[in-house]
Amino acid sequence: MLIRQTPRWAIPERDATPETIFMSRRQLLGTTGIGILAAGMPSNARAANFNDSPDVATELYPAKQNLTYSLDRKLSPRSDVLTYNNFYEFGSHKDIWQRAQKLSVKPWLVKIDGMVSNPIELDAEDLIRRMPIEERLYRHRCVEAWSMAVPWSGFPLRELVKLAQPQAGAKFLEMRCFTKPDVARGQRQRWYPWPYLEGLRLDEATNDLAFIVTGIYGKPLVKQMGAPLRLAIPWKYGFKSIKSIVQFTFTDKQPKSFWEQLQSREYGFYANVNPNVDHPRWSQATEKPLGQDERIPTLLYNGYAEEVAGLYSGMDPKTLFY
Ligand code: MTE
Repeated sequence: MLIRQTPRWAIPERDATPETIFMSRRQLLGTTGIGILAAGMPSNARAANFNDSPDVATELYPAKQNLTYSLDRKLSPRSDVLTYNNFYEFGSHKDIWQRAQKLSVKPWLVKIDGMVSNPIELDAEDLIRRMPIEERLYRHRCVEAWSMAVPWSGFPLRELVKLAQPQAGAKFLEMRCFTKPDVARGQRQRWYPWPYLEGLRLDEATNDLAFIVTGIYGKPLVKQMGAPLRLAIPWKYGFKSIKSIVQFTFTDKQPKSFWEQLQSREYGFYANVNPNVDHPRWSQATEKPLGQDERIPTLLYNGYAEEVAGLYSGMDPKTLFY
């Protein structure tokens, strides 16, 4: 997302950082792995491995791949994907994977509440074990114009909606991340509207593509990518894919997301990917895949138009793509 060292409105990392430094850090991540990065770290951080998966229902992985969700491109290199992250709870830059290891994800209480017939509180691991876990290959397009292609494991969000049994008046699903400023030092930056919050319309949440991620590259999800539960909503900009969810609330009011609360003129509720609608401060026409030098064209709805365009028919296009 954005570099926000101060409450003043920030700029994307590639604007804040000279391109050569930005790119050489990316190349460093891609080619040398953790060795150089770890050199100046305290010993407990040095001991952490970016591949470490927490012990959450490990026997469910690798899950069987659902071939409906395959890709037009190669998967991104695992070492890039697992070390180049946006997780503002741990800092407003990309190198947070060591810090995220402090997060304890077992046990992990999840609440499902609001306008539902079956409000429920349960441990994430129990929830995961009740769900049909499968692997899907998805594109992910960040609003900052980088992208990746990854093998997520998890379950359709629709299954969680079914479990909750929303009441007739429920129109939206609001999702919240944890609040733990003791382990997530980004949350000591009080100008952010913690906790990180995101929302979907219920018909978006029950679309085939909406997916709760519990694993990646055939193992339980790593902490820096949102263990034990995160969202993957591949036709929308990446900030909609909230990590480390602790609460799912069904409501009749359109949620105001974390980034929308910070800067509603740049980050709207829908945030559907569209190469023809620029961000107010940069073009969205192309993207830079992790682990590749050349940029590629960005696709309408990130390539998922066939599956999701119908959700928005008749709506004002101005509201859909920022
Ligand atoms: N979820 C939380 N809780 N905090 C965040 O800062 N960043 C979002 C999204 N989910 C974010 C979050 C953004 S901007 C992106 S692009 C993706 O996570 C990045 O996911 P990745 O780091 O797993 O690639």
